[in-house]
Amino acid sequence: MRDLRQDMGFAQDANNDRLWGAMPMHPVTVPLLAMTLFMLAANVPNEGEERGRILIKANCSGCHAVGRADVSPMPDAPPLREVHQRYPVEHLAEALAEGLTTGHQGKPAFRFDAREVNDIIEYLKSLER
Ligand code: HEC
Repeated sequence: MRDLRQDMGFAQDANNDRLWGAMPMHPVTVPLLAMTLFMLAANVPNEGEERGRILIKANCSGCHAVGRADVSPMPDAPPLREVHQRYPVEHLAEALAEGLTTGHQGKPAFRFDAREVNDIIEYLKSLER
């Protein structure tokens, strides 16, 4: 049977090692770097933003428009993409952690943990772009 490495042009292991040793970057670095650049260029949502989107969809979309072009199911509830026009969305952090009561009297009180708050803010900020 023929040696697969010979088929691939690597005659010996020693040659193989030298091949990698000569690479300017570790072989895994290249795809990782390419992926990062692609995500930055394409504006692909990062993990936090995506978790925030899911939280918002689950908890807020019954009343609020939560995307870029949807209409609020509850007419009184402002589309969340417009909140930043009134104040920086970071101002919601405290309210989200301690229970959202502004404008939500008699509605379910939300309490999100610190990471969830970050994710939600990150998602809301993505709507400003
Ligand atoms: C049961 C319906 C309902 C749900 C669910 C709901 N909201 Fe609201 N929300 C409203 C209404 C109605 C208003 C407008 C109240 C007003 O302006 O008096 C409002 C207002 C707001 C405002 C503007 C408050 C201000 O004074 O600037 C923000 C921000 C907001 N909601 C965020 C959220 C977020 C985030 C969620 C999910 C975690 C959520 N809401 C879930 C009904 C809801």
